[in-house]
Amino acid sequence: MRALDEELQDLAGHYRRFAEVEAAGVSPQYAELAAAVAGDADVLEFLGSLPRAKRQANLLLGALTFLHGAPPADGAQLHERVLGDADRLRTTMLARATQTNEAARCAALLPVLATLPGPLALIEVGASAGLCLYPDRYGYEYPTGPVGDAASPVQLRCTVTGDGPVPTGVPEVVARAGIDLNPLDPADPDDVAWLQALIWPGMDERRARLGAAAAVAAREPAEIVRGDLVDQLPGLVARMPREATVVVFHTAVLAYLDDAAREQFVQTVGGLPVRWGSQEGVSVLPAVRDRLPEQPAAEESRFLLALDGEPLAYTAPHGGRLDWLPGAARLSGRRGG
Ligand SMILES: C[S@@+](CC[C@H](N)C(=O)[O-])C[C@H]1O[C@@H](n2cnc3c(N)ncnc32)[C@H](O)[C@@H]1O
Repeated sequence: MRALDEELQDLAGHYRRFAEVEAAGVSPQYAELAAAVAGDADVLEFLGSLPRAKRQANLLLGALTFLHGAPPADGAQLHERVLGDADRLRTTMLARATQTNEAARCAALLPVLATLPGPLALIEVGASAGLCLYPDRYGYEYPTGPVGDAASPVQLRCTVTGDGPVPTGVPEVVARAGIDLNPLDPADPDDVAWLQALIWPGMDERRARLGAAAAVAAREPAEIVRGDLVDQLPGLVARMPREATVVVFHTAVLAYLDDAAREQFVQTVGGLPVRWGSQEGVSVLPAVRDRLPEQPAAEESRFLLALDGEPLAYTAPHGGRLDWLPGAARLSGRRGG
């Protein structure tokens, strides 16, 4: 490979790490493609011509998948597609952002939401297309039995360990709204195709679920306010129905914020008349992590589910697993807590 300047060498390093750490073991195809990018001076030069925030592997591979209906078969096809279709690729990467949306995260939220006094007004910050705003419209299969809408096109299986609240039904939801820097429209085929393109190869179940959840959301659109979650939250909370318990929640969002903005969000949500549900990487909210009975290993890859800052369970980042922490069962008897 020809000599690269320092900036492109760093970029090659990012793609190498993506291949070896993030994709290896999860998506061999993405690992191979990212490794090919790391060794392809022309592709690195194309990426180097984009703003720094637009050079990530997930964005490049998502955009190639979106434009061609499938990821490149190998490094040679990736090279051809990048150089042969550079203008369209550039436009897509500049216009779009990596913002997955995973309805399966609702399976961890539901048992907690079901302990709160209804009816509920749900506000999701960092909602993407809002697919986590419909926990009452999906069906669930827990080890304790089925819950929710058995006829829903979205059926969520969830493994559970430990002792926690067992939902016997879904809560009544009288309002659902969200905030996102870049709201996506579940009724827009292009937005749905973009979200599906962000799902890695081999995760076909997630892709099908996304399409089904988007159809559910499109039938009953939620208002998703465009803007920053700290700035927009107080105004949105003030517009919720007075008779409802307002629940502000977020999943896989606060990692996008710097430390100061996260702290500002925690202060803001703590000063509002709401219940607060969080499902984030373990280290994303240090104040929640510090309340764990045992501090987790540094390389912890699970999410931590909490209500009002109290850690309740570890969850799988893309849903499907809930490991209650000791004491979580107390929630069952604390309706309104
Ligand atoms: C990984 S997605 C998660 C979407 C959804 N919560 C889920 O669990 O499927 C993160 C979302 O947060 C949004 N986001 C990031 N920073 C934000 C901010 N400061 N204010 C509002 N939304 C933000 C992104 O645009 C993106 O749609």
